[in-house]
Amino acid sequence: MGFFTGEVTALPPDKSISHRAALIGALSAGVTEITNFSAGFDNQSTLGVLRAAGIAVDQGEIIGSYGRPVRKVVIRSGGLWSFTAPEKQLMCDNSGSTMRMFAGILAAQPFESELVGDSSLMKRPMKRIAEPLRMMGAGIELSPSGTAPVRIRGTRDLKPIEYSLPVPSAQVKSLVAFAALHADGETRIIEPIRSRDHTELMLGLETIDRPDGGRVIVIPGRKTIAAKPFYIPADPSAACFLVALGLLGTNSEIIIRDVCLNPTRVEFISVLSGAGADITIENGRIIGGEYIGDILVRSTPDMKPLVISDKVVVAGVIDELPMLSVLSAFVSGEFELHNAEELRTKESDRIDAVVVNLERLGFECEQYPDGFRVIRRRSRPTGTVTVECFDDHRIAMSFAVAARASGESIELSDSAVVGVSFPNFFEIIDSLEA
Ligand code: S3P
Repeated sequence: MGFFTGEVTALPPDKSISHRAALIGALSAGVTEITNFSAGFDNQSTLGVLRAAGIAVDQGEIIGSYGRPVRKVVIRSGGLWSFTAPEKQLMCDNSGSTMRMFAGILAAQPFESELVGDSSLMKRPMKRIAEPLRMMGAGIELSPSGTAPVRIRGTRDLKPIEYSLPVPSAQVKSLVAFAALHADGETRIIEPIRSRDHTELMLGLETIDRPDGGRVIVIPGRKTIAAKPFYIPADPSAACFLVALGLLGTNSEIIIRDVCLNPTRVEFISVLSGAGADITIENGRIIGGEYIGDILVRSTPDMKPLVISDKVVVAGVIDELPMLSVLSAFVSGEFELHNAEELRTKESDRIDAVVVNLERLGFECEQYPDGFRVIRRRSRPTGTVTVECFDDHRIAMSFAVAARASGESIELSDSAVVGVSFPNFFEIIDSLEA
């Protein structure tokens, strides 16, 4: 059994906020300085497509808090229409956020462009981005199965729309918002189930709460955005892996510093606390419009199994579900999830990916279209088990955490995939192991 203790000051900067800071920088008039930008492959893909579309992006290192080097990105742009026609296809690699959110910007530029990705991204659903952009007047073509390549015929004459999100997706919400910034009039996005709200906060958009718990987001068209600096706090979705390590480990205690605690991102802490997990928040404060603080986690061997079925909760823990399910299986032998069909559209089909690997580790599981159940652990493997990562960073890290904490021997089919969001994942776990 692993014993983990210590302080984490080098968690990766938040992936979602890093993408948005770069894209909003490219849409702003002036010089945008971003401190603590993520080195993760996904965020580097966003910088790559911006450069390929004519935006000046510089990246270097400065000394940040705790005396350690952090990335500083500087973006220079003339504002909403400063992009130029790319010479070739724009490669988004594994990053759905890059492809979807940048499509919203390209739809408003008066040229043609084409977005492609790696084999995982080329399988992910893109109809959800084509529909609102076509309603606004852009030409969007997808493959016959509704996936990339995404071919865009942009126009300077985008129309404002009123759009109700058919799935709770912060990426779709953001791409409509980015397109709407260029439209000739006010756009309204109706969000029946709330998703992460970084775009609204960073652009200072007006939001109206609905009595059913949803929200309306109001985007004024054709307003110059003045460049402003951004600071990126640590990624709560990365913190979740270390929280799980602390909970599963023996006599463990980990403190994770300066994490983004935006309420739309930390539902996993409420879910875990509800099952008895020993997690405390310290030093809460607001920086750059985002609530930030430290997470203190201590081993909780008697945690109850997790049962997740509420649609609002599912939307709030969508990226944390692989780790939550594997944690629940290891700590209690049980887990249950419903209303989570979206999980099949991520970097991998995460329902299938978790089930396949849990079964290899001796768990009895049942999958259904919108979720799965872990019933019990039938047996413990005697030798090393190969975990299939399916090009998915969160699958790799979820099983790596469970194996390290329980002392079981696994081999990841692709350990490099963790670099998509958490390049120093193994380094941090090694530094915590006592
Ligand atoms: C993200 C939104 C979510 C999430 C993804 C990042 C974002 O995707 O799963 O990792 O930064 O907006 P969806 O918008 O598809 O729900």
